[in-house]
Amino acid sequence: MAPLHVRVHAREHERDERREQHLPQLEEQKSQTAHQAATHRRTLATDVPAHATHRSRHCAPANAKPVKLKDSLVRRPAPSSELPKETRLLRTLRAVRRFADRPIPDDVLRDILEVGRRTGSSKNAQPWELVVVRDREMLKQLSQLGGFAGYIAGAQVDIVLVMDSANNAFDCGRLAERLMLAASAHGIGSCIASLFPDENARKAKDLLGIPVARWVRQTVALGYPADENATRAGRSRTVGVVPIGRKPMDEFVSWERYGKRT
Ligand SMILES: Cc1cc2nc3c(=O)[nH]c(=O)nc-3n(C[C@H](O)[C@H](O)[C@H](O)COP(=O)(O)O)c2cc1C
Repeated sequence: MAPLHVRVHAREHERDERREQHLPQLEEQKSQTAHQAATHRRTLATDVPAHATHRSRHCAPANAKPVKLKDSLVRRPAPSSELPKETRLLRTLRAVRRFADRPIPDDVLRDILEVGRRTGSSKNAQPWELVVVRDREMLKQLSQLGGFAGYIAGAQVDIVLVMDSANNAFDCGRLAERLMLAASAHGIGSCIASLFPDENARKAKDLLGIPVARWVRQTVALGYPADENATRAGRSRTVGVVPIGRKPMDEFVSWERYGKRT
């Protein structure tokens, strides 16, 4: 049986997956409530003077219908249907390793690259370049150059992140994430594929004509998801050796002081 932390994460993950799956229906059910909540908040916002105290701003004005504090929509955390679509995109980004044959249109690919180009970096050094690989034979060769990179062979594109040096690993992570998020906004799935050990990274540089002095470790494989379950690991608790799911929030965040969970 998988270790406890894996099982806990997997349970959380399954719950999140179910939520994602049912989100459209949930949204429909909640949209009326959300609309009422928004109207209610707007009423509060416009009726209460700007100089009102925090407490009074969060209470209904004297002439409003009394609202029991427990039921106050203002004090409750917003339901997901009210969250901005941008954070929904961020929350739902998952690794996709099974891709459809459908090519990625050039303008879409260019938009993803444009998002990457605009990524911030330490001292704005922009210590990076990208090599966009679409050639099937090259994709197959790259797929041999990592411990868990086989899916590059079935991707439409693999973007190889060429960094000035290994000291730019943080910038590299930020760039990779941007590319993945931009892809996701276009409905395109992605997964980071690491080229390792060093010997494999050297082979990749050789294959692609990248100068030896540059640091290459991460690539981002892209493609439209093969099917609607392409982000899911079926009934398995792991993807290969990797556990699925996320730590619960109270193991992730401390408040004010390390270890203070509430
Ligand atoms: C630095 C880094 C390197 C990664 N390298 C690989 C890799 O070589 N092969 C792979 O299959 N996934 C790789 N991943 C993807 C992770 O396995 C994935 O983000 C994690 O399992 C969470 O997946 P999920 O978002 O679908 O839950 C890498 C991710 C990161 C951040």
